[in-house]
Amino acid sequence: MTMTVKPMDAALGAEVIGVDLRALDDETFAAIHQAWLDHQVLLFRDLRLTDDDLVSISRRFGDLDEAPVQETGRRFVDGHPEIYVVSNVVQDGVAIGSLGSGEAVWHTDMSYLPDPPKASALYALEVPPRGGDTSFCSMYAAWEELPAPLQRRVEHLRVKHDGTYNSGGYVREGVTPTGDPRTSPGTFHPLVYPHPETGRRALYLGRRRNAYIEGLPLDDSNALLDEIWAHATRESLTWRHRWRAGDLVVWDNRCTMHRRDAFDPAARRLMHRTQIKGDRRDAFPAT
Ligand code: SIN
Repeated sequence: MTMTVKPMDAALGAEVIGVDLRALDDETFAAIHQAWLDHQVLLFRDLRLTDDDLVSISRRFGDLDEAPVQETGRRFVDGHPEIYVVSNVVQDGVAIGSLGSGEAVWHTDMSYLPDPPKASALYALEVPPRGGDTSFCSMYAAWEELPAPLQRRVEHLRVKHDGTYNSGGYVREGVTPTGDPRTSPGTFHPLVYPHPETGRRALYLGRRRNAYIEGLPLDDSNALLDEIWAHATRESLTWRHRWRAGDLVVWDNRCTMHRRDAFDPAARRLMHRTQIKGDRRDAFPAT
């Protein structure tokens, strides 16, 4: 088989064709890794992965984080502490996963932590007939296309990434919302930083809700964040993925954001996700 990388007709994303992800030699993985750095998000189609397969493919990108606690307090898939379930499916009255069927707003995974995962891999087991598409946004392009005066204004600022809500709008396990981003739980990260592997500068925004720019009065912080977000999430900077069961998408959290469309709550959507560890030094090198 010859591996082909087919870029999407969009600001980011590529499909990789002609590889057997369950039998990757080092040379093929190096080519996949380079394609991932070049295109920020990779799509592999028509797979039939077990949870073990998903874990071992994800491990090629680095060590894995343990899955966060689900909204229900449930921790992870039995026997697979690295797998997080994204699903609206309810079994015996209990949600088996997180994020329900509503919109998941633009975000970068787990950025409220000091050491957010550098990458995420999402594998589709069941998808609804319509809706539930996932869009990705290039944070390189978001930075590069920011008007120069705005670039100068924000390049040395830090933004607080709120830890109160997840992207589905649900309050995280064990958190009591304060409604004030200055006092809510979260982590300050640089708004702009060089990607540790490519050296390209990217905006790092996390989530809009409850975000706060260090040192500014709250109204000024909100106004500046709204301005940056309006630029960063323009459709021209995005790629929208319509899922099929058997799709695996691997994205780089250091230079992308993503969001998910709502879908019919009566339809089933079941995805398994892994996350590849970052560490603070690796994720946020000196600017
Ligand atoms: C996520 O935000 O990690 C999940 C996105 C999706 O459900 O498509």
